Amino acid sequence: MTEVRLEKVSKYFGETKAVDNVDLQVNDGEFMVLLGPSGCGKTTTLRLIAGLEKPTSGLILFNGEVVNELEPKDRRIAMVFQDYALYPHMKVFDNLALNLQVRGVPRDEIRKRVSETAELLGIKHLLDRKPGQLSGGEQQRVALGRAIIREPSVFLMDEPLSNLDAALRARMRGELKKLQERLKTTTIYVTHDQVEAMVMADRIAVMRNGKVQQIGSPQEIYNRPANKFVAEFVGSPKMNVFDATVVSREHTKLTTGEFDINIPSSMAQRIVESGSGPEVMVGIRPENVAVSTAYQEGFLEATVYLVEDIGNLSFVTLQVGDILIVAQAPPSVGLRVGDKAYFSLLVEKLHIFDKKTEKLIV
Ligand SMILES: Nc1ncnc2c1ncn2[C@@H]1O[C@H](COP(=O)(O)OP(=O)(O)O)[C@@H](O)[C@H]1O
Ligand SMILES: [Mg+2]
Repeated sequence: MTEVRLEKVSKYFGETKAVDNVDLQVNDGEFMVLLGPSGCGKTTTLRLIAGLEKPTSGLILFNGEVVNELEPKDRRIAMVFQDYALYPHMKVFDNLALNLQVRGVPRDEIRKRVSETAELLGIKHLLDRKPGQLSGGEQQRVALGRAIIREPSVFLMDEPLSNLDAALRARMRGELKKLQERLKTTTIYVTHDQVEAMVMADRIAVMRNGKVQQIGSPQEIYNRPANKFVAEFVGSPKMNVFDATVVSREHTKLTTGEFDINIPSSMAQRIVESGSGPEVMVGIRPENVAVSTAYQEGFLEATVYLVEDIGNLSFVTLQVGDILIVAQAPPSVGLRVGDKAYFSLLVEKLHIFDKKTEKLIV
């Protein structure tokens, strides 16, 4: 039973603000993912929670108690890294058993726990091998086993799947998620892979430049991104974002300069009330852009700039003047580069961002 809380935590390395005033609460049993691009401070945040780094300022609490001064070994955490850091000269059994041996756990108990852990991870048949005789996926399981066997209160995982090939990574993320649901151990998982974050997390904390941008369930992050950065970072292909102006006298219309978008009056009202505008940014995900070879009522004209067919889906990039918009379509749409096409934006799925702050308005 462990809840982890960060209160206004910062970590500076000289001039670099690796972690900048982070507030984060991870509930007991929760699977929290820290998501963000390389260098945004994910690993440093994890190392602070582990006790491998001391915060420059702020508090780290486990179950409401400040642990800032507590050594890593006294925090009941287990870390899993990208490189598995197994001991190459030791058999899998001993890699799993080592930590228990060091702590003086009786031999019979060790045997039992190694056996149970190996069973859980499906690596029982590998106990007599050395790490060099294992595949990447098997090594990753052993690394996980080594963390699990210690029965920690918190798992800290730093991009643990990123050394695996794509197919194995996809399988392991599902297995890891199921395992965490079974063990119900509070888990903080770091990744730069937004798909991994979406499918594994109970909640995601999106980070950028050491700061938390948004914390929410995968659905909240996807459907209501707090700002342009989150909007573009989550989702593939990424959200279309382009500049637009609120047409001054008639507030229910936006113009991009190339085409106009009629918006519901409630949306227009929110923009006016926010004090933003007339310059805004408009975001729309590819699945909310309809595209067709034939003109339909209310559709706008464009030229096909690029077609990317991934088998079950086709991503069609449309060009209107100097604006490019990606639309998701069935492969049967039958559009080719240079074709004339017609598109429509699903207005209720528009995101409007403030041009200056890049924060979500509607
Ligand atoms: N020990 C360190 N000394 C100096 N700078 C560091 C150190 N560790 C990390 N940094 C810097 O802090 C920032 C965040 O790094 P990191 O937490 O590793 O990011 P991420 O894991 O998101 O890629 C980067 O600019 C990185 O160069
Ligand atoms: Mg890192």
